[in-house]
Amino acid sequence: MNKNFILLDHPLIKRDMTILRDKNTSTEFFRSAVKRISNILAVEIAKSFDLKELNIETPLEKTKGYKINQEIVLIPILRAGLGMVSGFIEVIPEAKVGHIGLQRDENTLRPVEYYYKTPKDISNAFVILLDPMLATGGSASEAVNYLKKKGAKQIVFSCLVAAPEGLKKFIENHPDIKIYGAALDRQLNEKGYILPGLGDAGDRTFGTF
Ligand code: PRP
Ligand code: URA
Repeated sequence: MNKNFILLDHPLIKRDMTILRDKNTSTEFFRSAVKRISNILAVEIAKSFDLKELNIETPLEKTKGYKINQEIVLIPILRAGLGMVSGFIEVIPEAKVGHIGLQRDENTLRPVEYYYKTPKDISNAFVILLDPMLATGGSASEAVNYLKKKGAKQIVFSCLVAAPEGLKKFIENHPDIKIYGAALDRQLNEKGYILPGLGDAGDRTFGTF
């Protein structure tokens, strides 16, 4: 396994990944499982946040406390990345949220851009890119290209399911970016879907079957 890929190993993730993979899971249960896994990913990623010490007073005496010493910016890749936002926000309520709109062309599997909106200055921010699926790696790689062009220097990518092919390509394209994931699956099929996977994450999140 590449050192850039941090695969979370947790009983609650295993339980929730099973809910996500099951084709009989309803949209409602799918969303809530994505949210719970996102909570855990957020807690893990937050271990890397820069903290500043500060002085506070409890009702009893003076003591030291901490605050997060940098802007945190979540960037979901539309659409499916949106499903991960609420789980991250719950744990990191001070985070700002930008959006990147990419849609895979079904024939070429190349990402097609349709929307970008991020906070103006992300050069000193800790940027967390969110997309449940790292399949061929095209969408995540393209999104990081954009964020780097915007000046972002500290970026991590968080997904739910990664395919070996996409992981390899992403790490080749961006060897400086850490990837946090909840599962590493076997392979892609001929249509670029992850096996065993969970199907189309956008459709399952939004009920657009
Ligand atoms: C899915 C998924 C990723 C992308 C992954 O989005 O959410 O963004 O495919 O595939 P890749 O690694 O091969 O680029 P999709 O393009 O289907 O759009 P959607 O989220 O709007 O359904
Ligand atoms: N996008 C998805 O939503 N699912 C896959 O398996 C691959 C790409």
